[in-house]
Parts: sequence; C-alpha cells; structure tokens
Amino acid sequence: MERWRSSETHWLKAVKSVRGYFQHGGTEAGRKKGNAREQTNSSRGFHALPCACVPLGLILCTFVLAALVLSPVGGVAQELKPVRLPKPQMDIGRPLMQVLKDRSSARAFSPEKLPEQVLSNLLWAAFGVNRPDSGKRTAPSAVNWQETDIYVATADGLYVYDAREQQLNPVLRDDVRAQTGTQPFVKDAPVDLVYVSDLAKTGAASADRDMYVAADVGFIAENVYLFCASEGLAVVVRGSIDRPALAKAMRLRPDQRITLSQTVGYPKK
Ligand SMILES: Cc1cc2nc3c(=O)[nH]c(=O)nc-3n(C[C@H](O)[C@H](O)[C@H](O)COP(=O)(O)O)c2cc1C
Repeated sequence: MERWRSSETHWLKAVKSVRGYFQHGGTEAGRKKGNAREQTNSSRGFHALPCACVPLGLILCTFVLAALVLSPVGGVAQELKPVRLPKPQMDIGRPLMQVLKDRSSARAFSPEKLPEQVLSNLLWAAFGVNRPDSGKRTAPSAVNWQETDIYVATADGLYVYDAREQQLNPVLRDDVRAQTGTQPFVKDAPVDLVYVSDLAKTGAASADRDMYVAADVGFIAENVYLFCASEGLAVVVRGSIDRPALAKAMRLRPDQRITLSQTVGYPKK
C-alpha cells in the first residue's frame, strides 16, 4: 500500500517539475520553481520514494506532452472522423420566385438535428463545386480566390466543409456553437456555419481585398438563405460575434478571418 502511494508521489513530482517548466516560460528557472513548490509539499508530509519511479514518471509525462503537441489541429481532433456526405440532390427545390417570396431571417430554432442528406444539400447549395471540370462553385468569388471556408459547428464538434470531396473534415471535438455568436439561440440550433476567409488565398491587403472578401461571403450566405426558404428551414446570418474569442476557440491561424456566421435548423414549434 505504502509502495503505491510512494510511486504516485514521485510521478506527481515529475509532473509538477515539467509543469513548472512550461508555466514559467519553458525556462530552467521555471522547472526549479515547480520543484521548489514540490519541496514545500514534501515538507507537509509527502515522502521521498524509490528513484526507479522517477524515470517512469518522466517517460509517461513525455508521452502525454508529445501527444498533446503533435496531434493535429490543437490536439483534439483525434476521435472525430471525416464525414463523407451523401451526393447532393439536384432534383429538389421549389420555384425560385416562390423561394424569394419566402426568404426571411428566423431566431427561434428546434434542437432537432439536420439529416446528413439535408446538410449535404445545404453545403452544396452554399458553396459546392457545380462545375467539376474547372472546380468552380455555386457562389462567385472575386478573382476566383475561393478563399471562404465554411466551418460547421455542431453538438458533435467542429468540421470544415471540403467541397471537392463533398465531406466534412474534423477540426475539433469541442461544441463551439455557443461561441459562434452573442445571441442565445446560437447554442440551441443544430448547425452554426462560420464563414472564415483564408487571407493566405487572396491578394495583398487593401480596402478592395476586404470588400471582395466580405462580398464573397454575402453570396454564399444568400445561397443558404434561398436553400432554407426552399426546404422550410429556419436561418439567420449573423455579424454579432466575439471574433477574437471564437477564433481562439476554433484555433484559427492569424491569417484566417471570421467574416460572418449563419445559424440553420428546423423552426421552433
Ligand atoms: C451582414 C449582416 C449581419 C447581420 N447580423 C445579424 C446578427 O448579428 N444577428 C441577427 O439576429 N441578425 C443579423 N442579421 C440579419 C438582419 O437583421 C436581417 O436580415 C434584417 O433584419 C432583415 O430581415 P430579413 O432577413 O428577414 O429580411 C444580419 C444581416 C446581415 C446582412
């Protein structure tokens, strides 16, 4: 019994030493601080234990840290699998003039999930590839930059739409819906789309570039509005977003800009 407690103490000591190292900017002084704190704990009653346990603890720590640092997209996407979406249906939809008559914003959503077929149709309508020969899309984009990525926030996690493969690629296991906007309904709806403009795919910074990037998202958002009006779905495009907080939650690069978000779901009954 005493042996188990002993090895646990040494393992904790090793963890605290490494944690001190990172908490204090990765310096040797930081490691010493971690050790110093552990010394204090020892004097409060933790006992010194067999040296053989220290290397074991360090190896364990190294594995845990390596897994956190090396795994893709911030270290959390490992369990989320790509979702291959069903082929989008080209033979659905109401007449355009009736759809335009019904287009509107809604702010009350049922929590009911969208079937994969509906999600596939929605994303294809939004910004799918409609001319496979050229790779061009259902919405125009300035200079054909195609710089808008559609992130899909669901209860299961965060994905990014891959239009060429018609699939969802995993980004994070976290449910970030609540952070996609400042309004309470955003966490209730099954899907919050986040339009992220990848500035690495555009020309040099300029007022024109900013205008083009915003306009490109506008076309996609309108496609989504029209699809939703056709299919009886509730939808609202949103600019009221705490962008720095959301960018952090989504682990975006500095050259990825959150432009707008758009909530989609079934209307609340
Ligand atoms: C760029 C943009 C940003 C918007 N931001 C928000 C928002 O943050 N929250 C919201 O509830 N609606 C937002 N809306 C929706 C507008 O409020 C809505 O389109 C407007 O009231 C007209 O209503 P309608 O869409 O039903 O015609 C936004 C619309 C646009 C075009």
